[in-house]
Amino acid sequence: MLSISELSVSFGGVKALNLSKFELNDKELRVIIGPNGAGKSTFMDVLCGKTAPSSGTAYFNGEDLIGKSEVEIARMGVGRKFQKPSVFEGLTVFDNLLLGLKAKKGFLSSMFFKLADEESQRIREVAKRVNLENELYSIAGSLSHGQKQWLEIAIVLLQDSDLMLIDEPAAGMSDAETERTGALLCELSKENGVIVIEHDMHFVEQIAREKVTVLVRGEILTEGSFDEVKNNQDVIDCYLGTPNSAQTRK
Ligand SMILES: Nc1ncnc2c1ncn2[C@@H]1O[C@H](COP(=O)(O)OP(=O)(O)O)[C@@H](O)[C@H]1O
Ligand SMILES: [Mg+2]
Repeated sequence: MLSISELSVSFGGVKALNLSKFELNDKELRVIIGPNGAGKSTFMDVLCGKTAPSSGTAYFNGEDLIGKSEVEIARMGVGRKFQKPSVFEGLTVFDNLLLGLKAKKGFLSSMFFKLADEESQRIREVAKRVNLENELYSIAGSLSHGQKQWLEIAIVLLQDSDLMLIDEPAAGMSDAETERTGALLCELSKENGVIVIEHDMHFVEQIAREKVTVLVRGEILTEGSFDEVKNNQDVIDCYLGTPNSAQTRK
């Protein structure tokens, strides 16, 4: 689904990202971990067209993402959920989802948009997938932090993204919310490719059924199963071993 080679990003002469190779299978759930400043968010910025790389290629379903705008990339089926929730706080959950659905259809059609039964149905379906079916008429600003994150995931889902990029979804969540978010991401990866950046190793353990990629100073230190990565001496030295670098619950 995604095939990256020699991808590099520099900020003022400093290399923030330098990936020689990164591959993601269809419907794979990949977790990316690594210390602060490792280039994880920058990687997602490049994939969604927010940041232009200095060199490299990133093929998504056979088409290069590099040089395309954020809008073009979203249309190609790459959806991004940012680190900070950015829902419309004053609107209901339903209306936030409705806007998500409109965004996909583009400006012109949204001007003439009439809420058909099937659209309303689709919103309900997606709300159910993210555990918000009982909050459809709540004001988004009154949701818990976790629920806002789920709402954002739902908005990305409504855009029919094939690949979802999710940056630190569990940050600031309660244990129960974290658990439900993990289950949700595993569920999503049955139908979508998912790349998740995460710090919370307890959460990583819950969702990492496939490969974990460890990014350090913009480069891939290693890739493997959760257990392989957790027990890798280089990973322990660069990331897990330092107190407070990797957050572990309990
Ligand atoms: N817009 C930017 N301008 C300049 N430097 C940046 C910018 N975005 C990120 N960086 C730098 O790039 C490096 C990687 O950052 P980032 O991708 O946010 O890391 P991570 O998400 O792994 O914590 C850091 O050194 C950061 O300071
Ligand atoms: Mg980050």
